[in-house]
Amino acid sequence: MNQYSVLVVGMGKRGVHHANAFHANPRFKVVGICDIDQKRLDDAAPKLGKPEKSLDAAALAKKLRPDLFCFCTLPNLRRDFIKLGIQCGAKLIAFEKPVAMTSHEGLQIKQALDQSRVKAVVSHQHRYGEHYKKVKEIIASGALGRVHTVYGTATGWAAHMLSHLLDYTCWFNDYADAEWVMAQAAGRGKLSDLHTSTDYISGVVHFKNGVRGVYDCGAGAPDVPEVPYWWRKCRIGAQGSEGFAEVMTGGGWRAVTKSGGYQDGPGGMDYNHDMPPYIQQMADWLDDDKQVHPCCFANAYKGFEIMAAFYRSVSEGGQIALPLTSGADEISLLKNKVPSKKVILTLAESAKEYPS
Ligand SMILES: NC(=O)c1ccc[n+]([C@@H]2O[C@H](COP(=O)([O-])OP(=O)(O)OC[C@H]3O[C@@H](n4cnc5c(N)ncnc54)[C@H](O)[C@@H]3O)[C@@H](O)[C@H]2O)c1
Repeated sequence: MNQYSVLVVGMGKRGVHHANAFHANPRFKVVGICDIDQKRLDDAAPKLGKPEKSLDAAALAKKLRPDLFCFCTLPNLRRDFIKLGIQCGAKLIAFEKPVAMTSHEGLQIKQALDQSRVKAVVSHQHRYGEHYKKVKEIIASGALGRVHTVYGTATGWAAHMLSHLLDYTCWFNDYADAEWVMAQAAGRGKLSDLHTSTDYISGVVHFKNGVRGVYDCGAGAPDVPEVPYWWRKCRIGAQGSEGFAEVMTGGGWRAVTKSGGYQDGPGGMDYNHDMPPYIQQMADWLDDDKQVHPCCFANAYKGFEIMAAFYRSVSEGGQIALPLTSGADEISLLKNKVPSKKVILTLAESAKEYPS
């Protein structure tokens, strides 16, 4: 079996998670790591088999020409690293959610990947949690009858969490195309964060298969009292004519179905559990074009497009048809549109994240 060489750019929290998981998998060899912070490089390298280190991603990528180019930088850095991955001859580019901050950039990334035919995956790895898999299994079994609604809520703001809510609900809905969306937003605090978004956004999606998506993300989202950890207060599920099934990111799953009655079970989001299969499926896809990675760019792009369309709906008002055919700078649109009224919090403990 081939061993695939890997360069990981960004040695922050997620870059280290990725690099560790590549290093632990015999199908990969971490040949290079990059960060603009020398200390992060020096701390990480000894645990990764002492790969080559550099402060300059472009120089290292062109020197090493890795099979797999991975970057885990904050969301303001996407398009140029996609271009670098393509230029250095990588067969697969792995990067972090969100796909991009604006549809202008997202469309450019999509065009570059489509033209080059380089494979790409986006890290929506929560789906490997046992509780997520159980909910998907119940939905796919038909036990909910005719699925008419998928939904997701999170207390964290959109640039962090909406990408996850959208990806897993699209997965529950077999990645059916969306036809239109409509959304509203409040709170300007996080418009100056590097994970740039409004403090709160709420929106609906009409999918072409008739399923309705309902999303609530940020300061005004409902509590998930079963989950104490603020960042994991996410409830993601599906309702059908004969029941519902839902996962709570930090605290198990539950379902009620006509044939099975009430059921629940354990599970909690855990990077150590979720990263190894996410990484292994990159090797599987590199080995065999037919084993398309479940976190492939095409799937992630569906959620990204919905997110950008939500932002446009906030800015323009009314429904926004999908697919988006031209790019826009949705962050500037939000900055121009969202009123300066203070966001109303659902949870008192959210005040530390939404102080303004
Ligand atoms: N999938 C998930 O579960 C999950 C969880 C947390 C964060 N994320 C996402 O991961 C991404 C990274 O988040 P993080 O928490 O690891 O951030 P981080 O700030 O911990 O790490 C980012 C790293 O990138 C480095 N960097 C910045 N510019 C660089 C450049 N030009 N070249 C090389 N390195 C550069 C920084 O020095 C830093 O070490 C974000 O998009 C975030 O939304 C995903």
